[in-house]
Amino acid sequence: MQDRKRADYYAMEARRLGYPSRSVFKLQEIQRKWKLLKEPILDVGAAPGGWTLFVLRTLGLGTRIVAIDLENLDVKTPPGCKISFLKGDVFSQEGMEFVKQGGPYGCVLSDAAPATTGNRVVDTSRSYNLVLQIISIAEMNLAVGGNLVLKLFQGGDAGKVRERMEMIFGRVKLFKPRAVRQNSMEVYIIGMGHRP
Ligand SMILES: C[S@@+](CC[C@H](N)C(=O)[O-])C[C@H]1O[C@@H](n2cnc3c(N)ncnc32)[C@H](O)[C@@H]1O
Repeated sequence: MQDRKRADYYAMEARRLGYPSRSVFKLQEIQRKWKLLKEPILDVGAAPGGWTLFVLRTLGLGTRIVAIDLENLDVKTPPGCKISFLKGDVFSQEGMEFVKQGGPYGCVLSDAAPATTGNRVVDTSRSYNLVLQIISIAEMNLAVGGNLVLKLFQGGDAGKVRERMEMIFGRVKLFKPRAVRQNSMEVYIIGMGHRP
């Protein structure tokens, strides 16, 4: 399918299924392939909430999820759901403490991305800093055997990220889901089987 048509298709499908963003299809493809979701879940860069809702629909409405983002979630969840959300920054002390309280996690998800400037060097370096922060968070808060799904912008530092991940996970894969636009720098690095 042509890239543009495919993008429209995913946006329409997301709307039809009640998801606030098309990002959900990236996680859906990753989950179909590797079955990585394990409770409790930490969802970093969760807004507007597509991945959070996908986790609830996949693992069940009672799944414990801790979510953090600079922006608010925009999903309606049924009463009784065990979602704790902080509108905050993963680099802040408050953010780090909030995340720690809900752990250790079976799976850490991060679709977090810095606001892009269009300057490839600036964007990849911001993404790299965010990715390093999230790897540190995963290292401190993942249970033994836990998994990490992490978005990064491909660039000079992707190799270094992979090396770091290989030190703390049994298996590491780089994956570009079909729902990612062809011209996007976005890719996912997946760590399976955390070994502290
Ligand atoms: C592509 S969106 C995530 C989409 C989400 N997975 C979904 O399915 O709806 C990326 C998010 O990362 C968040 N983000 C970027 N930097 C962050 C930071 N330092 N701390 C927390 N969230 C951050 C942004 O606010 C943005 O909402």
